[in-house]
Amino acid sequence: MNAYIKKNKNRFLEELFELLRIPSVSADSKYKDAVFRAADFLKAKLEKAGADQVEICPTAGFPIVYAEKIVDSSKPTVLVYGHYDVQPPDPLELWESPPFEPQIRDGKIYARGASDDKGQMYMHIKAFEAMTAENVLPCNIKFIIEGEEEVGSDNLPKFVAANKEKLAADVILISDTGIFSNDIPSITVGLRGLSYLEVEVTGPQRDLHSGMYGGAIANPAFVLCEMIASLKDKNDQITIPGFYDDVVALSEEERKEMAKAPFDEEAYKNSLKVTTLRGEAGYTTMERVSIRPTLDVNGIWGGYTGEGAKTVLPSKASAKISMRLVPNQSSEKITALFTKYFQSIAPPYVRVKIKPHHGGEPALTPTNSKAYKAASKAFEEAWGKTPIPLREGGSIPIVDLFEKELGLKSVLMGFGLDSDAIHSPNESYRVFNYLKGIETIILFHKNFALQ
Ligand code: BES
Ligand code: MN
Ligand code: MN
Repeated sequence: MNAYIKKNKNRFLEELFELLRIPSVSADSKYKDAVFRAADFLKAKLEKAGADQVEICPTAGFPIVYAEKIVDSSKPTVLVYGHYDVQPPDPLELWESPPFEPQIRDGKIYARGASDDKGQMYMHIKAFEAMTAENVLPCNIKFIIEGEEEVGSDNLPKFVAANKEKLAADVILISDTGIFSNDIPSITVGLRGLSYLEVEVTGPQRDLHSGMYGGAIANPAFVLCEMIASLKDKNDQITIPGFYDDVVALSEEERKEMAKAPFDEEAYKNSLKVTTLRGEAGYTTMERVSIRPTLDVNGIWGGYTGEGAKTVLPSKASAKISMRLVPNQSSEKITALFTKYFQSIAPPYVRVKIKPHHGGEPALTPTNSKAYKAASKAFEEAWGKTPIPLREGGSIPIVDLFEKELGLKSVLMGFGLDSDAIHSPNESYRVFNYLKGIETIILFHKNFALQ
């Protein structure tokens, strides 16, 4: 390990803990003050780490933290993106230690945001500190750290469009993804896009006694389930007309290459406590969660869901539905296709309301760029292994936006593991990955500046 990291290891961990103690949940207004506090915390740390210019840029929502250090305008510039907001910690009762009281157990830091994305984002600030302190920062560096990623980055596009000059760089570097395993490091080269909608099915004008009316009236909860169930066929293919029209199929060669990663299906099932896997016919599990689009129910409710039993036919039933998209599907187009089809399959005895939530486009990043090669070499030097390129299933909508607005490709150099359980109770991040990540990031800058 780099001597500076070794020497400052405990402080690097303590500072991350301090950040993790701030409950910066962007989705829930009761945490609003904390989200602002997280931005203040980052500003102070970036200043202390040696950034020349640090700003808290207000937006209509949560602020964007910007910082830069220009060492030499003839040298390349790396723009680091990350997010300081986190997902809600619910369900709280399933946490073994409180989500905003970080604790290390078995070499893992347990806290909401430990991996997504506070732990991963903070590695960049510590890598920057190390390079500045030792006077070896080999390139210019800019930071853009937002507080609304987990709620769809509503205010980021406007900021990017209005600050193109300020954000000018040669590459974007992001640690907000995972690696295959600590034995087989990987670099993410693809992300899925997202269409997210809420649907509401209404039947009778009020909740009804299920004895008096049951049997005579279509139950909206039942109808909603029928409608949702019809969105996939027996092969688990999505039935929305036109849904697959723009999907880019992978060549047999590309699929063969993907299949080389030693995916252990038994271990995967065991880790999730499922006996059987299910997905689109004709595709492997790795393919189903990366190169194929999906449709899922994220939440479904209606009628009585409290304690005990209440005999009632609900007047309304609702669901939150997401579709993960792959190149070259368009979020807007898929949202429109879904809306049209879902309306069309509604039986005459219910009314359907559909509300689109946020979306985002899929992204692919190149493996032959200078930046990819610098990242690959950094892994080789720090991990002793050449990382494999892998596409992942999650979404970071800003990656496509950066490409369109700034003309810049990203390098997705994440260090998370599936077992980090991001968005779940007991999210964690390995201390090893935190420190190794800092080391790898330093090597990325060195290799990128050399070329
Ligand atoms: N860091 C994740 C995205 C991610 C996770 C990418 C795992 C690759 C592997 C990010 O914070 C996230 O959760 N994104 C949301 C999308 C957003 C629009 C709310 C997602 O993927 O659900
Ligand atoms: Mn994230
Ligand atoms: Mn997330």
